[in-house]
Amino acid sequence: MLKAREAVLRIPQIPQLTSGRSGICLDLNENTAGCSPRVLAKLRSLSAADVSLYPERAAVEALVAAHLGVRPEQLLLTNGVDEAILLLFSAFLGPGDEALYPVPTFPMYPIYATATGARTVEIATDRDFRFPAAALRAALTPRTRMIAIASPNNPTGALAPRKELLATLEAAPHSAVLVDEAYHEFSGETMLPELPRFQNLFVARTFSKAYGLAALRIGCLVGAAEHMDAVHRLAPPFNVNGLALALLPEALADQDHVSSYVVSIKRERARLEAAFSKYGIRTWPSHGNFLLADLGKWHAEFTAELAKDGIHVRDRGADPACSGCVRITIGTAAEMDCFYSALPGVLQRTGWHVAV
Ligand SMILES: Cc1ncc(COP(=O)(O)O)c(C=O)c1O
Repeated sequence: MLKAREAVLRIPQIPQLTSGRSGICLDLNENTAGCSPRVLAKLRSLSAADVSLYPERAAVEALVAAHLGVRPEQLLLTNGVDEAILLLFSAFLGPGDEALYPVPTFPMYPIYATATGARTVEIATDRDFRFPAAALRAALTPRTRMIAIASPNNPTGALAPRKELLATLEAAPHSAVLVDEAYHEFSGETMLPELPRFQNLFVARTFSKAYGLAALRIGCLVGAAEHMDAVHRLAPPFNVNGLALALLPEALADQDHVSSYVVSIKRERARLEAAFSKYGIRTWPSHGNFLLADLGKWHAEFTAELAKDGIHVRDRGADPACSGCVRITIGTAAEMDCFYSALPGVLQRTGWHVAV
């Protein structure tokens, strides 16, 4: 009888992320303010050829490389960072290898690492969610071939200190080190300038978050040219769709749009922190477009009750060290006003002790 590979069958099934969402979607860290109007204007001007011909990546790849200050041969455009992770892990991991990553973190690391047949080694984080630098270095072995670090991390919003990332790169020259900078625009921090010094460093960026292009599925992976050559060999020739390639230059050209979204996120994130603190609800400092809040034993009910009011947030209570935690994407000021209108009632219905 036909059976899928053992490694693939070991991948834990993850619950469906969405189903027919409507209302206010603060559950997937999307840009709810929307992309640049320049992107929409270009979309409306596209022709039949833009849809009927196979999409050529190279010109836009060169544009993104110039934007990031790297050479085109160091960069691959991908179908979101999801595909960047898949290709990088497939290129560098195999049965018997070890993939290390701090937890809690982005769930695609264990999925794609497990699929290669590699052993996954989860590095626990304390409840303060600080980057577990010493524990990670202590877990290195000669079989470590991949270290995946989201910075800022999802779902915690924590930033891995540059000093610790450098020490990790130095301690593991035999391992690929992926620094996933999906939320870079909100933190301003990047490891890109370290690429010339570290042949084992890979940086991933997405256009799903600050640029508001999640539906187009476009991101990129950057690394040393000789290693990116291996990743290029694996990549499907037409992995990034033609609409994404036609529209990304417009999004890149409108940096004012990105900056004003980032400013609004920082303002609304501070407002949300203050609102939660008023109710005695703990949050953690976030460098992303989201905030993690501790709703204690009420986390699932809180999420369900908010959904009844048409507001979707993400229950992360099952993640390691995250018991009681709910992740809220920062929306527009108007969306957050709706959230604040719903909040007292939702807390009362869930039985949260209303402190004020
Ligand atoms: C840390 C991190 N990396 C990667 C991604 C996936 O990004 P993309 O939409 O580019 O696949 C996400 C999405 O939420 C994320 O949180």
